[in-house]
Amino acid sequence: MFTSMTGNDEAIADILFRIFNDNCVQADVSRIEDTDYACITNYDVLVVVSYTYEDGEVPRPAYDFYEWLEHEKLSSLTFGVCGSGDTFYEDFCTAVDNFDSRLENTGAIRGADPVKVELYPEAEDEQRLGNFVLSILNTKKGHDENQNV
Ligand SMILES: Cc1cc2nc3c(=O)[nH]c(=O)nc-3n(C[C@H](O)[C@H](O)[C@H](O)COP(=O)(O)O)c2cc1C
Repeated sequence: MFTSMTGNDEAIADILFRIFNDNCVQADVSRIEDTDYACITNYDVLVVVSYTYEDGEVPRPAYDFYEWLEHEKLSSLTFGVCGSGDTFYEDFCTAVDNFDSRLENTGAIRGADPVKVELYPEAEDEQRLGNFVLSILNTKKGHDENQNV
């Protein structure tokens, strides 16, 4: 799920979608503000992609979702968070950290460390996003194997 004002996070979401598909994993992409959050529990993996807004805040279109997460238990989910920000601002990409902490507090499993992208994703960011997806998939696989022991 992503939220995007000027397209940078949408571009990140598109890259992630392609990488999941390249790894033979079926993925759906939706805007946070257009998503019925309850459907999250139908998925094994959740990736949140968000920009950061004034004073390092979670952007308004994603805020309802951020608040909703506070009261959810999502222990069957493996998650990752990434997003675009601008190092011009002191609170660079803090919405990424906020979502990461909040998802951890739901009991979900962190599949990868957060990835912060400076504005539009460049080739080196695609590389980092590739590692991010692989880490999520490996964490998920390792967790599933442990469950089956
Ligand atoms: C009014 C305003 C405030 C912003 N505040 C922050 C901020 O505190 N931290 C940050 O990292 N980026 C901040 N940004 C930069 C955006 O997060 C950045 O441009 C991002 O790439 C936008 O993503 P989008 O293209 O997906 O909308 C701000 C941008 C605007 C317009």
